[in-house]
Amino acid sequence: MNTYNIALLAGDGTGKEVTDEAVKILNAIGEKYSINFKFEPALIGGCAYDVYKTPLPDETLNIAKSSDAVLLGAVGDWKYDSLPPEVRPERALLGIRKGLNLFANLRPATVYPELTSLSPLKEDIVSGTDIMIIRELTGDVYFGTPKGIELKNGEKFAFNNMCYFENEIKRIAHVAFKVAMQRNKKLCSVDKANVLDVSRLWRETVIGISKEYPEVELSHMYVDNAAMQIIKNPKQFDVILTGNIFGDILSDEASMLSGSLGLLPSASLSERKLALYEPIHGSAPDLKGKNIVNPIATILSAALMLKYSFNLNKEHDVIVTAVRKALKEGFRTQDICQIGSKTVTTSEMGNIIKNNILH
Ligand code: IPM
Ligand code: MG
Repeated sequence: MNTYNIALLAGDGTGKEVTDEAVKILNAIGEKYSINFKFEPALIGGCAYDVYKTPLPDETLNIAKSSDAVLLGAVGDWKYDSLPPEVRPERALLGIRKGLNLFANLRPATVYPELTSLSPLKEDIVSGTDIMIIRELTGDVYFGTPKGIELKNGEKFAFNNMCYFENEIKRIAHVAFKVAMQRNKKLCSVDKANVLDVSRLWRETVIGISKEYPEVELSHMYVDNAAMQIIKNPKQFDVILTGNIFGDILSDEASMLSGSLGLLPSASLSERKLALYEPIHGSAPDLKGKNIVNPIATILSAALMLKYSFNLNKEHDVIVTAVRKALKEGFRTQDICQIGSKTVTTSEMGNIIKNNILH
């Protein structure tokens, strides 16, 4: 029997509630297809700070490094808002991304036909939207140096450095072109090349890499226009490739096309086999312990793990089908409830999806 070791980093707030359901689903897949998933829990975020005075303890990073894949819930809680920036829970996310070299962040924004009416946009604009955003995750202004806040000419002066090495752009471009090859072969690279030198290098480098993928139709868009086009006509996009900060913003924007942050998974890949999977939503500490949050984003993140880390494509598809069946049958957590739908709790949604897998 194949065994996969999964580092389980539930994190803060409702993180545990959603990862519990994803574990339930992976175990159901294991039962059905005779696969052994072993979970090793570790602390990350505020809960790690409480114990270790750091949001990303070495133990956690080591458990993640020696695993076959990492499943993460979410980090953050208002009770840590007054901590210095270096030990805030969010720092753990940046730390684990850098520590595991997870440079490629895949954020699909899929609009489910059953849920088009949930979108804040008109149904005819969003229906059929299926965008894959590829966000560079370990560079850009997030990690650039020098950075800081100093006194200059008698006043405070703050600075961060937006920067990319050509090689960082090349490797994320390769990921994006490969993903595009498996989809509709359309890639839109988003930058701000009319203003930023970094973006000029970005565009030039992406054009260079495109020669290796002649079948992929490459286009370029300035980020401000892209923000507008995602709302105006989201269906024009197949794969969007962009840097860390633009990708952060555009992926939140695109997520709303589907109607709820609670539906969207993500995968963060490295050059090695190791990868991390997490829902794109946060820890929602106000909803903690109520058993009402939507576990689907985390369940679909587990499905992405099967596909990208373990090459279990059939098993990935089985989870996606089971999720869609639950939605088709009208089961809804509170965030996506509609007139006539059946409202269920977090764990009930997990059980329904599990039953769809097993029966
Ligand atoms: C995300 C989040 C993080 C980011 C924060 C919490 C550091 O917004 O994963 O998109 O900015 O990358
Ligand atoms: Mg974000």
